[in-house]
Amino acid sequence: MTIKKDYNKHLRIIICGSVDDGKSTLIGRLLYETKKLYADQLKIFHEENTKFGTQENKLDFSLLVDGLSAEREQGITIDVAYRFLSTKKRKMILADTPGHEQYTRNMVTGASTASVGILIVDAKKGILKQTRRHSFILSLLGIKNIVLAINKLDLIQYDEVIYKKIKETFLKFSKELKFKSIYSIPISALDGDNVTKNSKKIFWYNGQNLLDYLENLEDDTDYKRPLRIPIQYVIRSVNDFRGYSGTIVSGKMCKNQKVTVLPSGFSTTIKKIIAPKEKKEIQNAITPSSVTFTLNDHIDISRGDFIVDKNNTCEISDQFRIDLIWMDVKSFFPGRTYFIKMECRLLKAKIFIKYKYDINNFQKLMSKTLDLNDIACCDIIFEHKVVYEKYEINRALGSFIVIDPETNSTCGAGKINFALRRSSNIFSQNFIIDKEKRSKLKNHKPCIIWFTGISGSGKSTIANILEKELYDLQIHTTLLDGDNIRSGLNKDLGFTDADRVENIRRIGEVSKLMVESGILTIVSFISPFKSERKLVRNLVNENEFIEVFVDTPLEIAERRDPKGLYKKARSGKLPNFTGIDSPYEIPENPELKLKTVNSSPKECAKKVITYLKSKKFLFL
Ligand code: ADX
Repeated sequence: MTIKKDYNKHLRIIICGSVDDGKSTLIGRLLYETKKLYADQLKIFHEENTKFGTQENKLDFSLLVDGLSAEREQGITIDVAYRFLSTKKRKMILADTPGHEQYTRNMVTGASTASVGILIVDAKKGILKQTRRHSFILSLLGIKNIVLAINKLDLIQYDEVIYKKIKETFLKFSKELKFKSIYSIPISALDGDNVTKNSKKIFWYNGQNLLDYLENLEDDTDYKRPLRIPIQYVIRSVNDFRGYSGTIVSGKMCKNQKVTVLPSGFSTTIKKIIAPKEKKEIQNAITPSSVTFTLNDHIDISRGDFIVDKNNTCEISDQFRIDLIWMDVKSFFPGRTYFIKMECRLLKAKIFIKYKYDINNFQKLMSKTLDLNDIACCDIIFEHKVVYEKYEINRALGSFIVIDPETNSTCGAGKINFALRRSSNIFSQNFIIDKEKRSKLKNHKPCIIWFTGISGSGKSTIANILEKELYDLQIHTTLLDGDNIRSGLNKDLGFTDADRVENIRRIGEVSKLMVESGILTIVSFISPFKSERKLVRNLVNENEFIEVFVDTPLEIAERRDPKGLYKKARSGKLPNFTGIDSPYEIPENPELKLKTVNSSPKECAKKVITYLKSKKFLFL
């Protein structure tokens, strides 16, 4: 098979360091010396230099890249800026990210597609905490090749001993980070030593200068790996034509190639490949081309399915060990259902923290939640099985972004380290006696009657009366109440947001089990978050979740204060109290709303009975 020769991918580079280390100066010099600047940029650059009184042989190259005035004022670089370099040999994209800890997410964005990372170290300062943090993040993101650019050699009088010491320190501490290659270069970005030309002043160094290294580095070779193409569109038209479009994320596709469709597992062969831009048939295509193609068999394929090499297919699983970076100001909660976007697929999953990383010293920390810029090792459990490859093998199939289902904003990013085998060793059992049979015996239909509302709203009182009324009607019930369950099953949980999420997740699962045994399950928990109430709703059949909002204004609940807890909370003795310093999210569309100000608990319970009767829950 012949491969198109014009395959010319940009080398993607991430550059880490701070303004103090000389990062902007280095980038500016690279741009200047590879003549990648427009005439107007050059004009402004020279004008600025004149303004600052710099001489021609000591131009301030950092002025070329620190364009944002805010950056200059604060002396920091804020966003991810992409700079384009090209030489006769190679095109390159340089992701320039801020160095400070509060910009970890920007760094992750810049590094996620890079295949080489340049770490700038100030020779006068040596390896700093920041260098360690950057190295760790680059290693987490699977950057295989590192250039250690030890800068400001002019300030240490080109001392080889100091340079070697810094290099050795780095090699020693980075051993566990498993980089494929570490290439160390002594440079002076200010004077241009070893940046694009080998320096005479650093005569003891015989290696490549930075540009030489970047031009000659063998890049990742996705196209040499087995074929993987996620289906982006299915094209159906008259006369039974069925085509598929997508971008080849690894490998090559050619006419008559044997392929397998995943997750269905059917095999077929490629019939025709069409290059979408040229709109003509081609014999083969290679990563990262976008193609439209047809198959020799009629197979049911939808968006998000994969076409892979038949002789080298991918694995499928629903549970994985992952690394997750949290990118949202709103905290991450374990056990909450999030949307996961993964190569043309929008999936649902729950994530649980194993441990958080201290990104400054790689220590493992216990944590119940994640905040902005936190990175943690987690387990992810998808609702359905997904086609995947480990991130270290295939970044496209091994990475994903996390989306908040309430706001639809991107709140995190993750990478798959490996699949958890435990999921494949568990087999769902089918029993002879199921929910329908159990409920027939009881002569009524099961459901969850979910009371939600602030403390003191009257949930437990109404739930108690309701159960008594149902009991009198000979209905089989159970009552799960926050205060009671918290002294047993959920004894380990407190009242932080994360603990409340876990509290409701567990009660949701218990309620589901109860419903499966055919019981009318009355639940009385504050359950302050919409996400968790929705989660429980989705655990059972559509009409089996009845959300009852016990709508009592805070002033009234506080006046009632049956347990004296509001008083304690107001005096600061009880932190995280719902309605005081912990939020309550009002239900938008509850099945029932009970206003306890106008009605007695008995009347409220009656309203629930009326509802249950109208929906035919009580008698078969
Ligand atoms: S939930 O928010 O996680 O759903 P849950 O219903 O289990 O709460 O427990 C609420 C009960 O715990 C309240 O009725 C109250 O008696 C008691 N409680 C103790 N501390 C708090 C607190 N900080 N916030 C709310 N309720 C609390």
